[in-house]
Amino acid sequence: MGSSKFVIVVAAIAALSGLLFGYDTGVISGALLFMRTQFHLTPEGEGRVVSGVLFGATFSSMVSGRLTDRFGRKRVILGTALLFAIGSILTAFASSVSLLVAGRVVLGLAIGVASFAAPLYISEMSPAKIRGSLVAMNQLAITIGILLSYVVDYAFSSTGNWPMMVALGAVPAVMLAIGILFLPESPRWLILNNRETQAAEVLKRIRGTEQVSEELTEIKAALSEEKGDWREFFSPHLRKALIVGVGLGLFQQFTGINTVIYYAPSIYKLAGMTSDSGSILATAGVGLVNVIMTVVALLLIDRAGRRPLLTIGNIGMGLSLAALSLSFLLHADAQVLKWVGVGSTLVYVAFFAISLGPVFWVMISEIYPLRIRGFAMSFATAMSWLSNMIVSYTFPMLLANLGVGITFGIYTIITIASLAFAILLVPETKGLSLEQIERQERSGTLH
Ligand code: BGC
Repeated sequence: MGSSKFVIVVAAIAALSGLLFGYDTGVISGALLFMRTQFHLTPEGEGRVVSGVLFGATFSSMVSGRLTDRFGRKRVILGTALLFAIGSILTAFASSVSLLVAGRVVLGLAIGVASFAAPLYISEMSPAKIRGSLVAMNQLAITIGILLSYVVDYAFSSTGNWPMMVALGAVPAVMLAIGILFLPESPRWLILNNRETQAAEVLKRIRGTEQVSEELTEIKAALSEEKGDWREFFSPHLRKALIVGVGLGLFQQFTGINTVIYYAPSIYKLAGMTSDSGSILATAGVGLVNVIMTVVALLLIDRAGRRPLLTIGNIGMGLSLAALSLSFLLHADAQVLKWVGVGSTLVYVAFFAISLGPVFWVMISEIYPLRIRGFAMSFATAMSWLSNMIVSYTFPMLLANLGVGITFGIYTIITIASLAFAILLVPETKGLSLEQIERQERSGTLH
């Protein structure tokens, strides 16, 4: 197999983590309807079942950055694959609300780790020229996972078989566990752990050439500049990287993406859509547009670069959110409201998919120095999960108390701030090797 084909296979297998991330966060939208009846869930119980995953993910991403630095990228991904399988089975067999929540928390623990370990691993395996696209494959897998979960929910909805909806998540988990066994460890992590011969072997395999001494020297040179512990994360030359990673994590969530991904049918209902099949169809449309536009992002991210995608994406998201908000605030005609409701969510998701969706994960996998990369990525990821939890938890209450117009007005204003942040602070990393990025950060020339 050619070297670039091999790297694509590596990225595709690692991206099964993304598929699981998407599937296990998306599946609840349909499964909840039947869990509600079987367990007589109160609204509070429903909240616990939905946010169990987000709680687990926030917690594990916060505490497990050290694991990828200590035990390696590959072993940690293997561990999360097993956790995904266990979580799916536990949830499917849950016989009480507490067991159900416990299963969802286990799934969340797996999702939190997988969400940063997979992009981290892919980024370190990739050649600079196509690194953005390969890391974005993980985001593509997330969107496919979400779409797949909508389809599975729909397929089992006539029988109400929610355990099956959840249990099917174990299939990609087992595939990931088996697949990752055949992949090499990240050469950068190997060098960090003084396993240079092994690192050289891996590099030869993934670059398809015997001439890897230049890349080896470059990685070692970058390492010799690093202080070597997590305190470096807060040192002045990484201040911008810290702000960019955390800022993108907050904006990815506070601009409201999961109000649409998790709650689209509720929004459509408020916009006056009465038929269930219409709202399921529109939700499937959201899932499909998300996948298609992520493919577009994947094709553009290494050509156009990260910054132009972020700028255009934020503008499109802001305009569609403003349209949704204003049509409610100005009490548009019922027919108009229905169309604006569906149209604006589709346009909004399309622009998210070419910008904040992939760019956050790509950027945080490239802007931190090797020694603290796992720790730093997990920190930015945890901020994103925490924000996700806050948005998903508060959204139903905001809707009930403030209405659609004001709620989406708030997300519009946050999106304007996100646009300013992208223009003023986010650097361009297209085409640079991870070590070049680090050198430019040190000399203050990364713009
Ligand atoms: C975000 C998720 C979101 C998904 C939608 C991801 O990048 O982290 O919160 O549900 O994109 O495609």
